[in-house]
Amino acid sequence: MFSLLSRSATLKRFASKYGMRPRGFARRFIAGESVDEAIEAARALEARGFHLALDYLGESVSTIAKATDAAREYIQLIEVIESAGIERNLSLKLTQLGLGIDRATCVDNLRRILEPASKHQFFVRIDMENSPYTDATVQVFETLWHLEFRNVGLALQSSLFRTEQDVRRLNELGARVRLVKGAYKEPSDIAFQQKADVDAAYLRQMRLLLDHGTYPAIATHDPEIIREACAYTTERRMSNDRFEFQMLYGVRRDLQTELMTAGYRVRVYIPFGREWFPYFMRRLGERPANLMFVMKALLREGRETS
Ligand code: FDA
Repeated sequence: MFSLLSRSATLKRFASKYGMRPRGFARRFIAGESVDEAIEAARALEARGFHLALDYLGESVSTIAKATDAAREYIQLIEVIESAGIERNLSLKLTQLGLGIDRATCVDNLRRILEPASKHQFFVRIDMENSPYTDATVQVFETLWHLEFRNVGLALQSSLFRTEQDVRRLNELGARVRLVKGAYKEPSDIAFQQKADVDAAYLRQMRLLLDHGTYPAIATHDPEIIREACAYTTERRMSNDRFEFQMLYGVRRDLQTELMTAGYRVRVYIPFGREWFPYFMRRLGERPANLMFVMKALLREGRETS
């Protein structure tokens, strides 16, 4: 249903009109449409002791010109972050850089971003998108890795059957992995369909990463998995600077604070930009209560403007 809703032009128009107003309902999950708003959110989180990653939202661009523009925006973002003096950590999607149009263009755009990023000590994480792009995303990542870029890492989704192999391969390379459950509905011939199976796979892959990986990122809000990660690393006397937890801006802020206060590294993923609608719809899809919250906000807006 959510993938259908996320393609609805009417809903998009409605959400765009009200969602990002000063107290708009989308602001819970998105820092703002401008880079200044993202930096303000980042500063506030940093002041409280959190790590951060900035994500300039955008995906599935339809022309090479738009992909090149996105790369240029990321290069400018590097300069802005540098002068703002906040932590140097970015996240991006390869279809924003043209993966869905022409792989060579995408590689070239990513290389153009990684060069200044590496010069200025930024870390760049490649998000993992839906399964038509999994193979290509891993390959583009490996291409850049073999070009000796080491300031780049990859997200992998525990919901996919292939991920255990990908984890082993990236562990061998010494590459940094962010492990997520997976935000996309995938077919049953390639992905687990039951939450229990996705969670069990997550735990297996998380242990592989903690045992053999390079500074893995445990990216989840699932208290059971987080509890298991804490227990596993405590039992093995792994120090807290060998891995980090990651959570999304506006999701389980209580848990973010609890973990940080307990002495763990917690990175908050801060999305911003005008192209926030698909990201926002994925967040709604993860939790029916979020949809109720938005429906109530829309009804309120409707009453106030009628
Ligand atoms: P799960 O869905 O089981 O949720 C556990 C608990 O967390 C819920 O019971 C609820 O309390 C809370 N929760 C989860 N989602 C919520 C929401 N939207 N609103 C309110 N509460 C919520 N995916 C992907 O496919 N590619 C990627 O590159 C990334 N990148 C990424 C980065 C980071 C830092 C995070 C934390 C997540 C991603 N994801 C992602 C998204 C990920 O795949 C997954 O969809 C969400 O994290 C939700 O899954 P959980 O692991 O939190 O567990």
